[in-house]
Amino acid sequence: MIDWILILAIETCIILFVIWIAWSGIVGAPWVPTPRKRVRSMLEFADVNHDDILYDLGSGDGRIIVMAAKEFGARSIGIEVDPLRYLWSKVSIRRNRVSSKVQVIKRNFFKVDLEDATVVTLYQGYEINKKIREKLSEDLQPGTRVVSYRFILDGWTPTRTNDDESIYLYVV
Ligand SMILES: C[S@@+](CC[C@H](N)C(=O)[O-])C[C@H]1O[C@@H](n2cnc3c(N)ncnc32)[C@H](O)[C@@H]1O
Repeated sequence: MIDWILILAIETCIILFVIWIAWSGIVGAPWVPTPRKRVRSMLEFADVNHDDILYDLGSGDGRIIVMAAKEFGARSIGIEVDPLRYLWSKVSIRRNRVSSKVQVIKRNFFKVDLEDATVVTLYQGYEINKKIREKLSEDLQPGTRVVSYRFILDGWTPTRTNDDESIYLYVV
């Protein structure tokens, strides 16, 4: 009986794990974290400061939103569809004592209004960036900075690029 329950539990865990991995890959890019050194470069590149409201679209473990608040003084909001990364980033926000400045929302970022953003960070994929670009065009105020890691926003001309680190800055 115990063997049977154990096998069922393991099978359930495997199925949940596969769904979890596949889900974020279906609605956007799967979780691949930006190296912290690159996160710092992205935030420096966009000149993030304490006047900014930064959104990270697909915020993973929350490393961008935490660093934006902790080292650059910005208010930051992460949007993450994956429940485990969402919970992980909640823990990271508490551990880094930035709860007053940082928030994470468990949602599909296509369904979140980005109107008050002054900076948007992205690490998605080439194809998904085309859809994101349409959303950004609709939601963002003129002057908002968009920093994309590794993938360009096809059809927009970057204001600055850092080719060595694959960082692209756009100003709406
Ligand atoms: C390549 S990772 C980047 C994570 C983080 N921004 C970083 O730079 O370390 C992409 C993240 O986007 C999330 N994601 C993909 N599509 C999404 C969507 N439509 N809404 C919210 N999150 C999404 C994935 O779950 C994953 O954590």
